[in-house]
Amino acid sequence: MTNSWNPLSEEAVRVMICRRGMEDDLLEEAARAGWPACLGRGEGWLVLPGVPVGTVGKGFLVFERQRMDQARGFASRPLGEGARQAAAWAAERLDSQAGGWTLQAFAPDPAGKGAGQAQAAARRWREELARRSPNVAARESGPGGTPWVVQLCLTEEHLWCSVNRWEQLASTHPGGAYQAPHDPAAPSRSYLKMEEALDLLADPPRHGQKVVDLGAAPGGWSYAFLKRGCRVLAVDRGPLKISGIDQLPGQLTHLREDGLTFTPPKGWLPADWLVSDMLVAPGQALGLFRRWVEERRMKRFVINVKLPQKHPAAALMPLEAYLAKLSGRRAFGRLRQLYHDRREVTLVGRLE
Ligand SMILES: C[S@@+](CC[C@H](N)C(=O)[O-])C[C@H]1O[C@@H](n2cnc3c(N)ncnc32)[C@H](O)[C@@H]1O
Repeated sequence: MTNSWNPLSEEAVRVMICRRGMEDDLLEEAARAGWPACLGRGEGWLVLPGVPVGTVGKGFLVFERQRMDQARGFASRPLGEGARQAAAWAAERLDSQAGGWTLQAFAPDPAGKGAGQAQAAARRWREELARRSPNVAARESGPGGTPWVVQLCLTEEHLWCSVNRWEQLASTHPGGAYQAPHDPAAPSRSYLKMEEALDLLADPPRHGQKVVDLGAAPGGWSYAFLKRGCRVLAVDRGPLKISGIDQLPGQLTHLREDGLTFTPPKGWLPADWLVSDMLVAPGQALGLFRRWVEERRMKRFVINVKLPQKHPAAALMPLEAYLAKLSGRRAFGRLRQLYHDRREVTLVGRLE
């Protein structure tokens, strides 16, 4: 924390959630985007000064998993007292706004101890809200269709609370932690990354679509498309391990070729999807993407980019510059570190 900053002051702040260990990279990105300097940080979270909604930093950053705008910090020990104060603060805000709201409570690490505590804080928060403002409490609803989302984030010593519109959030999932439906038949953990990328793109694959999957083995991404009835051209020198393939509605062709130089047969162009999870450097991933875009070989894309050990944020700058250039040319692309990404980020988008 900076020496002069008091996290419990009434000053509104912006809280950003990221993968544990990526805090410096998120900070570097925020600084590059011209955001104000960091006030405080912990494992998987940063606090920046609050900025008027819709001004600086409207776009989301690559390493930003979730965002809380115009948030307030409360001491989290004892937890009940923090939750009580946060409920009083949120009640005032919700009272002056029309429409329903949804509550999302989380800790920066959804697999850590704090996650259960965050749910305990949410129970206390709801009890206090119902006691203090029953009319506001009665407007709580599930996520579909509510204009407002209340976020409660529990860090080591604080409970952060915000009341935002959905479009102010970096992700619709609590804390940005996308939970894919469990599928025991999925051949690899990578399958989760594809499910999350598809959720982000919000353009579900349809039966009969053509998919080119580069670096496909053992087959998690191919499987995600095959189960939706797509035709998949899987390119990898390694073996695919998709069990029960005959029961899946899609069709699979496996080619043992180099994905970096691979040119699909004419009948496959343009592919409905280019997906790539090859273990190649960011510069090679960019080269591949450019070639496919410039030859208009695909309509949609999901490309996983592996990050170098040193300066990952800087390594992504050429890719971000190319995306910025493309955005005026009937293309849409978004680079994000997904919840299921490890030392990697994912580029999703479409060409018109
Ligand atoms: C992380 S794995 C892919 C996992 C896969 N997406 C899944 O869901 O199961 C990376 C794969 O990329 C393949 N690969 C690396 N470089 C490649 C290249 N130049 N051409 C084709 N495949 C490549 C590797 O053989 C490896 O199987």
